[in-house]
Amino acid sequence: MVKPDAAGRLERLLGAMTPEEKIGQLNMLSADSELTGPGGPADYMAALRAGRLGSMLNLHGAERVRAVQRVALEETRLGIPLFFGYDVVHGHRTVFPIPLAEAAAFDPALWEETARIAAVEAAADGLTMAFAPMLDVARDPRWGRICESAGEDTWLTSRLAEAKVRGFQGRDLTAPGSVAAVAKHLAAYGAVLAGRDYAQVEVSERSLHETYLPPFRRAVEAGAAALMPAFTDLGGVPLTANAAVLRDLVRGAWGFDGIMVSDYDAIAELIPHGVAADLAEAAALALKAGVDIDMMSHAYTKGLPEALARGAVTMADLDAAVRRVLTFKARLGLFDDPYRETATTALTAERRAAHRAAARDAARRSIVLLSQKDGLLPIAEAPRRVAVLGPLADAAGEMLGPWSASGRPEEMVTFLAGLRATWPRSDVAHARGVDIDSEDVGGIPAAVDLARSADLVVLCVGEARGMSGEANCRGHLGLPGRQGELVKAVLDAGKPTVVLLSSGRPLLVPELLDRAGAVLATWFLGSEAGNAVGDVLSGNWNPSGRLPVSWPADAGQIPIFFSRLPTGRPYAPANRYTSRYLDIPTEPLFPFGHGLSYTRFALRDLRVSATELRAGETLSVAVEVANEGQAAGEETVLLFVRDPVASVSRPVLELKGMAKVQLASGERRTVRMSLEAEAVAFPGIDMTPRLEPGEIEIFVGPTARTDALLKTSIRVLAS
Ligand code: GLC
Repeated sequence: MVKPDAAGRLERLLGAMTPEEKIGQLNMLSADSELTGPGGPADYMAALRAGRLGSMLNLHGAERVRAVQRVALEETRLGIPLFFGYDVVHGHRTVFPIPLAEAAAFDPALWEETARIAAVEAAADGLTMAFAPMLDVARDPRWGRICESAGEDTWLTSRLAEAKVRGFQGRDLTAPGSVAAVAKHLAAYGAVLAGRDYAQVEVSERSLHETYLPPFRRAVEAGAAALMPAFTDLGGVPLTANAAVLRDLVRGAWGFDGIMVSDYDAIAELIPHGVAADLAEAAALALKAGVDIDMMSHAYTKGLPEALARGAVTMADLDAAVRRVLTFKARLGLFDDPYRETATTALTAERRAAHRAAARDAARRSIVLLSQKDGLLPIAEAPRRVAVLGPLADAAGEMLGPWSASGRPEEMVTFLAGLRATWPRSDVAHARGVDIDSEDVGGIPAAVDLARSADLVVLCVGEARGMSGEANCRGHLGLPGRQGELVKAVLDAGKPTVVLLSSGRPLLVPELLDRAGAVLATWFLGSEAGNAVGDVLSGNWNPSGRLPVSWPADAGQIPIFFSRLPTGRPYAPANRYTSRYLDIPTEPLFPFGHGLSYTRFALRDLRVSATELRAGETLSVAVEVANEGQAAGEETVLLFVRDPVASVSRPVLELKGMAKVQLASGERRTVRMSLEAEAVAFPGIDMTPRLEPGEIEIFVGPTARTDALLKTSIRVLAS
């Protein structure tokens, strides 16, 4: 919070500003080194000196930032400091697994820790704002940005929202190693039609409120300093101009008092969206809706003077946005400590090593063992000869993943390097076979020769990092390029083969899953990818990752997710007139929560602390988890609910809780989760929240496959 004397100072500053300087505070420009959107570089130094720049993106490096900040302080009329934002999405210098992978850890403490480390490194690099967390619930793996999300579930994404905001921002924005978090992209961007980026969004009022908005609300409640509206529309109104959502709901009903930063070029794009005729109209729509900062579209600098002249916006509208931006700068402590000296933590060698250790832990917790045959894994004794094959085996740059921030390829541990370190006395040889995106199959015979002479084959295939993320949607979800031929030839060699499948989304790889000895989803794991894989293959770490998305059996099922509404004609194999396809299954290949382990867990004895629940009360749900296998391991227990009869149809399953438990072989323990009565409330027919009396079914288990769940029920009583 800004102290009263500081508030007075801000008002005096505002009073001293010309209209151009006010508009300048709302203008954010990119450094020319790394443009993350359309349009050429902008002359940001000229804009700065003219008092027409309030913040920057894509400028990082303590010295570079300091040099520009010095100009802001010493060479502009009012000396107002800038702030500096960057896409610190999955780590900064130390690269962590992509968010979809990290979500597979189902672990808020881990999510918070990696955000904290990213913030410490970003702050040391001169940054004051992270364009993260990305909170778009994503149910379509064609959409490239699913890799930036926590997957398909609203409750899980909401937990990630609060953990990430706490991690980035710390206790307060002036604390050492804190940066401002930007919850993005408000809202329903993940629902773009047919998974095509920037396309139209079709969601009902109900799914907007139940599925897409809650993670943003959690981020606001957790104190997120900033929000970024999505590029996309809702009912024909682009979010950048959507006063009903930004102003009335988020600022009004939710009480959000931070800043709203447009997405890249999004204000000017109100023109091609077809809701503004020129930059003045676009600027007026966005400002009126509550967008404080124009990222790279020049609509505010070029359009607001005209919008003021036309009377489309008032000086009071402009002042309100400028006041919020100045207040935000004060919250960051920039007026007292513009170089953020107190916010910078020295990155000692010891601290860097701790960050790397955290990256290794995050990476191994993100790996999902999708399938395995005949107990191939773990490899208890080092094999004599290992063939590490495929285009992703020795691909340092690819390990960075789609938002690599300040990560450096030379600092990534490749799969090959990690496996050499894991089995130092083994003969670990490598052949690429094919490239990800080339037609050249000339390298396949050499790869097959190596496979034939090996005791163990580790086949590293999947997508390039540039195939997921923004503007990287795919219509076919198989292995790109000629990798399919490499896979077939290597599997035909008949050796025990472990596949490391790297991707930013679920892929459709039936041959791999049918024939390989084991398949691990290795997503994009970041700096410590190779070491984490070594930990898992050798059994030093028992894989504990669980899918945060339903893994489709066929692209024709997309979008596919577990929390669907029931139908009057649920699928029944013997009945033709039910909800199904003629040619593909209705169920996903792997359900939400799927992930194998080297041990076997059994869940039994589901108990609830009461059979009746009233508003304001909390139910305790207990279940016994037993490790009945040979290895120690970590189980994830999920708590789902279903309201079987309500005034509106409720989803067949809704995730409402989770717990993780570490168990030695033979150990058993009771795990407890809590369920507040309010968690089963829902927007009624009139969209106001209702807690309806009646039965609530409670399910507990490892995945969202209903037949694998323990079940009980309670009654909600009218209060
Ligand atoms: C983009 C993205 C957004 C990002 C911004 C800045 O186009 O949609 O997520 O934060 O640009 O790079």
